[in-house]
Amino acid sequence: MKVLAVSGSLRADSYNTSLLRAAIEAAPEGVEVELFDPAGLAGLPVYDQDLDSGDVPEPVARLREAWGSADAILFATPEYNGSVPGGLKNAIDWASRPRQEAALMNKTAAVVGASTGQFGAMWAQADLRKILGAAGARVFGDELPVTRAHEKFDSAGRLLDGELFERLRLLLETLATESISVSVAA
Ligand SMILES: Cc1cc2nc3c(=O)[nH]c(=O)nc-3n(C[C@H](O)[C@H](O)[C@H](O)COP(=O)(O)O)c2cc1C
Repeated sequence: MKVLAVSGSLRADSYNTSLLRAAIEAAPEGVEVELFDPAGLAGLPVYDQDLDSGDVPEPVARLREAWGSADAILFATPEYNGSVPGGLKNAIDWASRPRQEAALMNKTAAVVGASTGQFGAMWAQADLRKILGAAGARVFGDELPVTRAHEKFDSAGRLLDGELFERLRLLLETLATESISVSVAA
């Protein structure tokens, strides 16, 4: 099964993107984690319902195809001013329409988050879970807060914390199990 890994940060040295790179390594057998290019978020227009009919802008079509075709999505979000970055919210708005055939409708998803503060983007993760639920996704697993992220990765962006690595692996196992049971029930 394919898990698409979506980072809410566009920063080249993003801890959240590094966390998703660690998830590629942590993936259990039978699970392939693929990083969604953060440029796919940066290139989206701001959601406009007038643009959302007929031929949608090309970056929107690419986003919907990539997110819609994944078996599950693992999101990693930074916290900006107590919530999710605007670019990530914007992408979710695009992926939530048209409602019944939306890329996120019934999509199995999980949320992790890294911040340089003491709380590991907990508010952002809670908001992201709420937003994804409203968009039609099914969010599984617990939050995974990476606190003081600047101490958890080396200068090449490799995760240094073995316990976090193990928690990533367990979360991917949960995603795989839930994604299979959602597709059997469908
Ligand atoms: C605009 C802005 C707002 C931020 N607000 C918060 C915040 O509310 N809580 C927090 O823990 N960190 C906050 N931070 C710090 C981020 O957690 C930190 O920059 C983190 O490394 C961003 O994630 P990234 O490394 O994946 O880009 C903020 C950073 C920026 C740029």
